[in-house]
Amino acid sequence: MKDKNTAQEISKRRTFAIISHPDAGKTTLTEKFLLYGGVINQAGSVKGKATSKHAVSDWMEIEKQRGISVTSSALQFNFEDHCINILDTPGHQDFSEDTYRTLMAADSAVMVIDASKGVEAQTRKLFKVCRMRHIPIFTFINKLDRDAKDTFELMEDIENNLGIETCPVNWPVGSGKNFKGIYERKEKDLVTFSGTEKGTKEGEEKYISIDDVKAIEAQIGDEALVELENEIELLDGAGAEFDLEKVRAGELTPVFFGSALQNFGIEIFLHHFLQMATLPTGRVSGGEVIDPVEHDFSAFVFKIQANMNSKHRDRIAFMRICSGKYEADKEIKHIQSGRTFRLSQPQQLMADERKILSEAYAGDIIGVFDPGVFSIGDTVCMPKDNVKYEGIPTFAPEHFARVRQVDTMKRKQFVKGIEQIAQEGAIQIFQEFNSGLEEIIVGVVGVLQFDVLKFRLKNEYSVDIMLDNLPYEYIRWVDSDTDMTKIEGTSDMKKIKDMSGRPLLLFINEWSVDMTLKRNKGLILSEFKKN
Ligand code: G4P
Repeated sequence: MKDKNTAQEISKRRTFAIISHPDAGKTTLTEKFLLYGGVINQAGSVKGKATSKHAVSDWMEIEKQRGISVTSSALQFNFEDHCINILDTPGHQDFSEDTYRTLMAADSAVMVIDASKGVEAQTRKLFKVCRMRHIPIFTFINKLDRDAKDTFELMEDIENNLGIETCPVNWPVGSGKNFKGIYERKEKDLVTFSGTEKGTKEGEEKYISIDDVKAIEAQIGDEALVELENEIELLDGAGAEFDLEKVRAGELTPVFFGSALQNFGIEIFLHHFLQMATLPTGRVSGGEVIDPVEHDFSAFVFKIQANMNSKHRDRIAFMRICSGKYEADKEIKHIQSGRTFRLSQPQQLMADERKILSEAYAGDIIGVFDPGVFSIGDTVCMPKDNVKYEGIPTFAPEHFARVRQVDTMKRKQFVKGIEQIAQEGAIQIFQEFNSGLEEIIVGVVGVLQFDVLKFRLKNEYSVDIMLDNLPYEYIRWVDSDTDMTKIEGTSDMKKIKDMSGRPLLLFINEWSVDMTLKRNKGLILSEFKKN
């Protein structure tokens, strides 16, 4: 260990991604976290839909126009002597690879669920990636100030739909107009709910011990008390026991209740979260885990974004620091190119504001100016070291379109723009197997990325394009040495290649994938491109 201060700073860090289906309240909850963390004074100033103010994490022009958050961002705040990094994932109807990659940079996930809806489609998709990484998943069931589903049903829904055990850390008393508060199971306290003014944190939270029957009855009435007692008994008898090991292995999700809008249950959540969440976890390089405290500075790039802000035309590489302390005046080595240089103006970002950092620690996310050397998954470390983190997998796009240029004279800008946007990872580009760059096929994880592509090509490169949707939904990388001209596929199969010439196949349905595998002995198809 190099110095005590670094070890102490790292031990204070907790880094999580916040995930949910759109409208479950992720943005509102993030605002309230920041409010409690003292990052901003008035939570309302963070958030705004199409017409009003914009969320801290909204950067791109398209987001402003639509009032949605397309890119993922990182925010930092302090709470109870800890330093918490939140990675925001896009909250709109669609996905991009960024969404998945953001989860690669987090050590745990906070899953926000709308109490009236239960588990929804997007949550399921994001959850799958969290599961793949075995990171702890914390559940916050939101909007208890509205009529909610039965609490036991909600638990069952999470267990059956997501295949993870649940353990409620607290338990709601009523919902909607009858929402009285939450019961803290371990502490055996009822925390009462009183409505608050929007955007303030002064809502009164009173703690009453469950043994103080008189006080509780006076607060929630005898009927609600009997119901609570019955529910607790049932829960203590039948529910999974709390097991920190299981939480940390991502096998059991601690469940919390509250109302982000009414600032209720948030401090309680944060308090428990800090007790349970893991410190910055070490990542693997060459089959070995690099210790976050013992090892000197190292980080990996999980996201690249160009032209984030019209006031600063630039390309920013987002890095997750995996070990040690980053010091701005020290040189680092970029492993993939072997080059040694200083990271230019490392910063943390808050909307239009950029805070230049002089130091940062394992667990933190920094954005640095990218002089054009970084790719997603790259490692940086101290010049004397040779850390190389395992690459981030390329997730399979699910929607495809053929791109046509409206004005063929602007060929150069078009190629430059589309290649740059592809390099950022928002889209993937392919070509017909037997032709050159004149025919480009774009693949995206979420269809909104098609609009983002159109918008950005027009605004940043002055190129108009037309997109013709293609019916394919399944893409497979050809991992065997099979001769592409000899593959006997189904009639719907299409042969393509990526920009580095690697062969791929497109299919309309899964049946065709299976059929093609059956017809071609020795053919190996993969859903991810291994980097
Ligand atoms: P998202 O990021 O997950 O998409 O959700 P967001 O926070 O934007 O919340 C979606 C809507 O749900 C917002 O209402 C928000 O005010 C509301 N909401 C969030 N948390 C709660 C809660 O605990 N209780 C209740 N009752 N509502 C909640 P909106 O009308 O779409 O937007 P706005 O006009 O309030 O900004």
